Amino acid sequence: MSVNKEIKRVTTHTLQDMKGRGEKISMLTAYDYSMATIVDAGGTDVILVGDSASNVMAGHETTLPITLDQMIYHASSVVRAAKRALIVVDLPFGTYQGNSKEALNSAIRIMKESGAHAVKLEGGVEIAESITRILTAGIPVMGHLGLTPQSIYKFGTYTVRAKEEAEAAKLKQDALKLQELGCFGIVIEKIPAQLGKEVSESLSIPTIGIGAGQHCDGQVLVIHDMLGLNKGFKPRFLRQYANLYEDMNKAIQNYVSDVKGGSFPNEKEQY
Ligand code: KIV
Repeated sequence: MSVNKEIKRVTTHTLQDMKGRGEKISMLTAYDYSMATIVDAGGTDVILVGDSASNVMAGHETTLPITLDQMIYHASSVVRAAKRALIVVDLPFGTYQGNSKEALNSAIRIMKESGAHAVKLEGGVEIAESITRILTAGIPVMGHLGLTPQSIYKFGTYTVRAKEEAEAAKLKQDALKLQELGCFGIVIEKIPAQLGKEVSESLSIPTIGIGAGQHCDGQVLVIHDMLGLNKGFKPRFLRQYANLYEDMNKAIQNYVSDVKGGSFPNEKEQY
């Protein structure tokens, strides 16, 4: 597929139109200027400044420790880089669950201080009031259902969610509720493909799947995972498009060896 060279910003309306005409939506994470420049130039429709930054950038075991200030730092770096993609930023754990006023303040800080275009929140009907309040302020909201990593200590594991009928039924109701509230899209993470299909078909807004099967309206991956920067992380849903850990490791070993052997820099690489 050729990428349109004329730079026209993707908006929430673009995503809605894409669902309307059956065009799949591509979404990837980015957390810094250099990576976001490449992700945007590659034609990605949506860049997610995910709270997965807590894992892949900061080395935490979960997404829980990352702060609002840290998310704003990552998001503003991405905003400076991306010319075309819609930029969505995760509200981190503890910045929206307390009450809707806190949620609105957090969303406003992200929009004002980073220049991003939308926020993403994890959860269904339980956070309806917060979603409504953020939307009322004119801030686009993306939902996130299924495996919601901020609730990992409630789930206990990162395995597939909503395999049981009761959880699947709740997820379907939550998806409809998020649409009714006015969310412009919903990430659905690690659920059976059949459920991903049913949810996607039941909604007029786009679903973006990660481990939710081929019938979602779009797909999202963590950039470090799809580029093979995370050695050893290979869940079934992940397609790895490069092996940058190996490539970078080789490059660094060659550099170290050249420096130690005295062959870098040579006569041409000095003044
Ligand atoms: O934080 C993140 O990267 C996410 C994606 C996995 C959807 O929420």
